[in-house]
Amino acid sequence: MSTPERSGDDLTKTRVDAVAKVTGAARYGTDRPAQAHAALAGATIGRGRVVRVDTDRASAVPGVLLVLTQVDVEPPGFIMGGGFSFQSIQPLVGDRIAYRGQPVALVVAETPHAAAEAANLVTADYEEEPVEVTLDAPERVRQPEEPSVGDPEAALAASAVTVDGVYSHPAQNAVPMELFGSTVEWTSNELLVHEGTQNAGAVRGGLARQLGLDQSRIRVVATVTGGGFGQKNSLQSHIAPLAVAARRLGRPVKLTLTRQQGFHQCSFRPATRHRVRLGADASGKLTAAIHEVEQQTSRHDLFPAGYTELTARLYGVPAFRGPQWLVRNDTQTPGYMRAPYESPAAFAFEVAIDELAERLGRDPVEFRLANDTATDPLTGQPFSSRHVGTCLRRGAERFGWDRRPAQPGTGVGFGVAIGAYPGHISPAVAHVRAGADGGVTVAVDGHEMGQGIRSAIAYLVAEDLDVPVERVTVVIGDTAVAPQHLTAGSWGTASALPAVQHALQELRKKLGTAGVGPVDVAAAVAHSGRASVEVEAVGLGPGQPPGALERSRAGLPALVGPVYDGFTTYSFAAHFVEVRVEPTTCRVRVPRVVSVADCGRVASPVTAASQVRGGVVWGLGAALREAVEVDPRYGGFVTSTLEDYPVTVNADVGSIDVDFVGEPDPLLNEVGVKGLGEVALVGVVPAVLNAIHHATGRRFRHVPVTVADLL
Ligand code: MOS
Repeated sequence: MSTPERSGDDLTKTRVDAVAKVTGAARYGTDRPAQAHAALAGATIGRGRVVRVDTDRASAVPGVLLVLTQVDVEPPGFIMGGGFSFQSIQPLVGDRIAYRGQPVALVVAETPHAAAEAANLVTADYEEEPVEVTLDAPERVRQPEEPSVGDPEAALAASAVTVDGVYSHPAQNAVPMELFGSTVEWTSNELLVHEGTQNAGAVRGGLARQLGLDQSRIRVVATVTGGGFGQKNSLQSHIAPLAVAARRLGRPVKLTLTRQQGFHQCSFRPATRHRVRLGADASGKLTAAIHEVEQQTSRHDLFPAGYTELTARLYGVPAFRGPQWLVRNDTQTPGYMRAPYESPAAFAFEVAIDELAERLGRDPVEFRLANDTATDPLTGQPFSSRHVGTCLRRGAERFGWDRRPAQPGTGVGFGVAIGAYPGHISPAVAHVRAGADGGVTVAVDGHEMGQGIRSAIAYLVAEDLDVPVERVTVVIGDTAVAPQHLTAGSWGTASALPAVQHALQELRKKLGTAGVGPVDVAAAVAHSGRASVEVEAVGLGPGQPPGALERSRAGLPALVGPVYDGFTTYSFAAHFVEVRVEPTTCRVRVPRVVSVADCGRVASPVTAASQVRGGVVWGLGAALREAVEVDPRYGGFVTSTLEDYPVTVNADVGSIDVDFVGEPDPLLNEVGVKGLGEVALVGVVPAVLNAIHHATGRRFRHVPVTVADLL
């Protein structure tokens, strides 16, 4: 695996939390001690009403302290509708069962084993209703707004060459390594929650609403989160009942969901079905595209679709339409999972593009380059920066695309696809304290889910002030130190760094060391005559009103703006994949991948390169392994362990060669960074499928492509 040597990056910049993580010193939410342990019992029907819950046998288990079947809390609100949770409903309130596995009882015991044993003994009587859990369900809602430009029907009819295909993507689960869980305790004056989350602010705001508490009396701490990928982006359904139990028992209570419950009770990537129609003229110029999407949502919430906003902008297509339908299913509400719209959208669109290139007899790289665009086809505005061409050309060179066998079907396949991901910025607050001992403490908005944000912040401070990185302490994920907005959408670094940068400028002013250059922190603090010097600063995205910050201080979701004036902003990537399809067993191997990303300035090279490798590994899983299967008769997910939901493991991964364009974005923020975490995945899946086509001559329009498809 190579790293971004080309950008001249310093590979001694290792992760600041690396040792703590590999030695177990890093403390996760459920590493916190507690004297009581909880477990959940789930509904065994897919939809209906619970008539009676029998807790007698559970209560008789030695060590059981409490069995709750109902809690008196307010609904948390749906995060996409101004609320705080991934879904609007709260289990253990009322008698409706909306999905199989929905909690019907919370058991608390002296030990986790007693709690689990007792939860298994909870039974219930139900009135069962028929379920709908597939994209063929009858109740569907068309999204009112859809990307649209020109007259694609007319343009398609006039096109020399067309493609018309239906592409299927299953539901998936993020399966973060850290299981869902919390430790909840009531201290003398506050509710203290330790939870692995990407959105401590939503956990706090949601609990305040649910329990009728002032937010100032709630502190949520997520020092480290063991992977989130969007599944941990909001208040989880288990936390309010846990707080009720902890209050009732007067002691801290801990709950860790099982891996299966992570499938049954948390959000997931919804299944989608895409019809893609493309047209090109005889010269190979794209003339039209219609991308229609059907996406699962729950019966109780409308999880929005946002697929075609991306595909409208991948190429210079003058006529485009992207209608999207939400299909109501009896599941928990689906949610965001890494590149939630962009990866499935690019899967469908980029396979279709490959089919079109093939029909035109054009090289897939050269066809993509010929249809690149400098302006956003929907608005006519320029992109803040767009280096798709560089990604493709540099990737082709690193990969050795010119050695691609001319004819498909040799068993060795080269595939390519591009990806993009929109740029976002969330408001952020940073506090910086310089101490007389020369140490600098930064408290800022952000959650460390393994993506490396703590390191990016530490290195920014260390380099700006020219102090050793060991002297920088980064405090994030704690509502006691700064508002903790959702860290997601690849905006974490681009949001935290500008706020920190502003705070460093303020610090220099206050220390009398304005400008640039090294700061002797200890001497400057001593000179100030104080024990320490503290400053606060904020970072806002372009066009983001200061009200965005106020909203977040009030615990409301911070998804306000930004509004970009005169430009559209995306990160981009090109992925090149070699597959080998073994002729007898039909096993697909991926010996090498080359990925080149355009993410603006590379803030932390080591973590950036591993972000991209992680995205590629995810893409291999999505292309070849992962599918959450539903049972249309009974509802629920039948694949709910890592045994039957296989993700990519080391043996599945060959060489992943990563490079960056490295050009700072001139418009999105003053640091010049764009997001990277999600664009790293976008385009990997179709690149694998396009490579399989090149290796075998067979075109697949679904994922995962398994041995059964190839036999
Ligand atoms: Mo991500 S799906 O934006 O956490």
